[in-house]
Amino acid sequence: MTHPDRGYRRRMPLTRNLDDATVVITGASSGIGAATAYALARRGADVVLAARSEEALERVAEHCRELGGRALVVPTDVTDPAAVERLAARAAAEFDRIDGWVNNAAVSAVGLFDEIPVAEFRRVVAVNLLGTAYGTKAALPWLAAAGGGVVVNNASVLAEVAMPYQSAYNATKHGIRGLADTVRQELRVTGRGNISICTVLPATIDTPFFRHAANHSGHELTPPPPVYPPEMVAETIVRLLRRPRREAYAGGAARLLGLQWRLAPALAERALGWYAHRTQFGPGVRLDSTGNVFRADAEAERSGGWHGRRRQLVRVTAAFGLAAAGTAVGTLAAMNRRSRLDR
Ligand SMILES: NC(=O)c1ccc[n+]([C@@H]2O[C@H](COP(=O)([O-])OP(=O)(O)OC[C@H]3O[C@@H](n4cnc5c(N)ncnc54)[C@H](OP(=O)(O)O)[C@@H]3O)[C@@H](O)[C@H]2O)c1
Repeated sequence: MTHPDRGYRRRMPLTRNLDDATVVITGASSGIGAATAYALARRGADVVLAARSEEALERVAEHCRELGGRALVVPTDVTDPAAVERLAARAAAEFDRIDGWVNNAAVSAVGLFDEIPVAEFRRVVAVNLLGTAYGTKAALPWLAAAGGGVVVNNASVLAEVAMPYQSAYNATKHGIRGLADTVRQELRVTGRGNISICTVLPATIDTPFFRHAANHSGHELTPPPPVYPPEMVAETIVRLLRRPRREAYAGGAARLLGLQWRLAPALAERALGWYAHRTQFGPGVRLDSTGNVFRADAEAERSGGWHGRRRQLVRVTAAFGLAAAGTAVGTLAAMNRRSRLDR
């Protein structure tokens, strides 16, 4: 699921094999972060697990050890730059080095832009965008000290396309992509090409993300299908640590949406707006809630379970197919029109 990133292929991987490497993962208490920890532990890597919920991190660490990796738990709120620096120092003190850093922690506040409280909007920016900046800042000196390494930022296909009711989240994910591109340029022009910065653009993933989100929509939230397993993103992250690339999609739907957005942005924006407006909400009514935006919920669900919702899945997957087909036809028409104008 990799981006056709033909312009610049030679990027530095980790300087050592995964079974000898140390990788820090933020947002490791749940969903994709936990799946990534397991994928790395299975390969014998030392993993450093960060998030706010210590209890949940300890459960993930326990399973990593069962899988054969060493695991260190460092409860960390990524909105606190000093805490993120301490995370890096603890990781290096425990395992002597840091080879990879996965910025994965994120939250969302779902609702119309004008109805999301300012405090929540700020906090989404603080966790997703500033947390990624702090993580990258903390990682760079240690990666340099290790002779090179890889930062993987788990963004989203929403770093490239947009989705209604997710304005704060979309803005942060676009920002993460811009930040990664800029830092990559800086590393290259300052002779630090042995450090790679990668961005992952996953489609919808089967995690509790939509249950954790703050909700100001008045409705129950459901992930817009198709929904892919978190292990697929974890494998993409492992691949990037081994063979870094600028960007990698995770999930065919992400790749398709990205393509449509690049070819016919106005049309894709309309189609995706229509699709997400219809598929992001279930029939249940919900009161406003702040979800996990301000604090971790120790009792929170840590896995998805959306795969089981077969009936709805079939119905909305058909809608996705319809929207995708409609956009594809429109895209071809737009390309055709453009090439006629060019002639
Ligand atoms: N699920 C999807 O459909 C999807 C699609 C594309 C991209 N992604 C991206 O994948 C990443 C992981 O999301 P997920 O789907 O696995 O959702 P998730 O299960 O809700 O995981 C989010 C993680 O972030 C942590 N976190 C939240 N606020 C934090 C803070 N202030 N400091 C430190 N950690 C914090 C949470 O742990 P605590 O609450 O214990 O702190 C949790 O471990 C995110 O970057 C998300 O944007 C998800």
